[in-house]
Amino acid sequence: MRSESEVPFSDNPFKIPVADRVRRLPPYLFGKINKLKYQKRVAGIDVIDLGMGNPTDPPDPIIQEKLSDALKDPKNHRYSVSNGIGNLRREVAKRYWKRYGARLNPDDEIIACLGSKEGFSHMCLGLMGPGDTAIVPSPTFPIHMYSVMLAAGNVIALDVRDPELFLKNVAYTCEHLYPTPKIVVVNFPHNPSSTVVEQDFFVELVRLAKKYHFMVISDFAYADICYDGYTAPSFLATPGALDVGVELTSMSKSYSMAGWRIGFCAGNHEMIRALATIKGYYDYGIFQAIQIAAIVAMRHCDASIESLAAEYQGRRDVLCDGLERLGWEIERPKAGMFVWAKIPEPWSEMGSIDFAMKLLEDGGVAVSPGRGFGEDGEGYLRLAIVENSQRLRQAVREIGRCTKVETAKSV
Ligand SMILES: Cc1ncc(COP(=O)(O)O)c(C=O)c1O
Repeated sequence: MRSESEVPFSDNPFKIPVADRVRRLPPYLFGKINKLKYQKRVAGIDVIDLGMGNPTDPPDPIIQEKLSDALKDPKNHRYSVSNGIGNLRREVAKRYWKRYGARLNPDDEIIACLGSKEGFSHMCLGLMGPGDTAIVPSPTFPIHMYSVMLAAGNVIALDVRDPELFLKNVAYTCEHLYPTPKIVVVNFPHNPSSTVVEQDFFVELVRLAKKYHFMVISDFAYADICYDGYTAPSFLATPGALDVGVELTSMSKSYSMAGWRIGFCAGNHEMIRALATIKGYYDYGIFQAIQIAAIVAMRHCDASIESLAAEYQGRRDVLCDGLERLGWEIERPKAGMFVWAKIPEPWSEMGSIDFAMKLLEDGGVAVSPGRGFGEDGEGYLRLAIVENSQRLRQAVREIGRCTKVETAKSV
């Protein structure tokens, strides 16, 4: 056996010629923070991780038990079908009907994906090419922008924090850009800003889509995490939506099944066919035992979705109350898993990346800098309410401690 020192990688003179589509991608702005988080963990230092919308709660025991049962059936270990088993697609159709009054044909208007992120990126690959333009939200969940770039398309990023203004800007762009945008991406409840809309937003979006001939992709990953009696509307419940667009939903957040990699794309059948074609070449579908457990989740776990949303609402209040006590200006989110917080004086000049590094370095609290979501995110931090209330109180204490000490020093 060779020793590690013999591994000949470091002096390889051959430079790997990666593709332009990889070179075109901008630097990963969360890299510095992730590296420090990792170093702290390796050194055994506790990090309160509010950096990513990655649920820490387990899925309902019924879902886990069904997975465990399904594992025992040898049939479930074979390749599955790429677009998802029929019973699963039928369950999604039932859920859309029950919850939103939207009628979908499970045969050609619904497809299962390896998480909604996979569905979104391959949908872009199926619809876009060189010379095509997509309007994406700004600030942006990074993949909304990068998927368009990976598909060789151009990006126009429009601020979504005022949804009415966003619609006006979409119309203005369509009037003045030639060729007009091919796709408009929307994501409400929005990551990272937690902006929400009502159904009339989608009514106007569908009207514009028909007028200017663009397709709509609605990312509805936070559909079920709503607070204070607010219910997030589905794009697909809008009359005419099926003519122009699709919607992505996810089991990652509603059912705390993020690692299972399962989500759905539903809507216009030609767009679904484009995605199905790409997926037919690229993957063999989701592990069948997971699909079976997902059916059980959708059939039997409405109550756990409600209690999960109530739990997040409690955490939201703990974090917002705490930050407000520290003098931060907070808009309490009505939905989603994030508090989008304006960086207070005197820290705003520092920039969101350095301030987030400081909170991690001095306070052991990991958050996402707004700049990581594009230029419009500068001046903000995104805090994911994925840790429990006790840990969130601890996070507030640590943030208070490490920002107060510095204020005292600077006086
Ligand atoms: C807006 C948005 N869409 C999609 C995803 C990814 O969801 P999934 O786990 O279904 O791929 C996330 C995850 O953070 C998200 O914030």
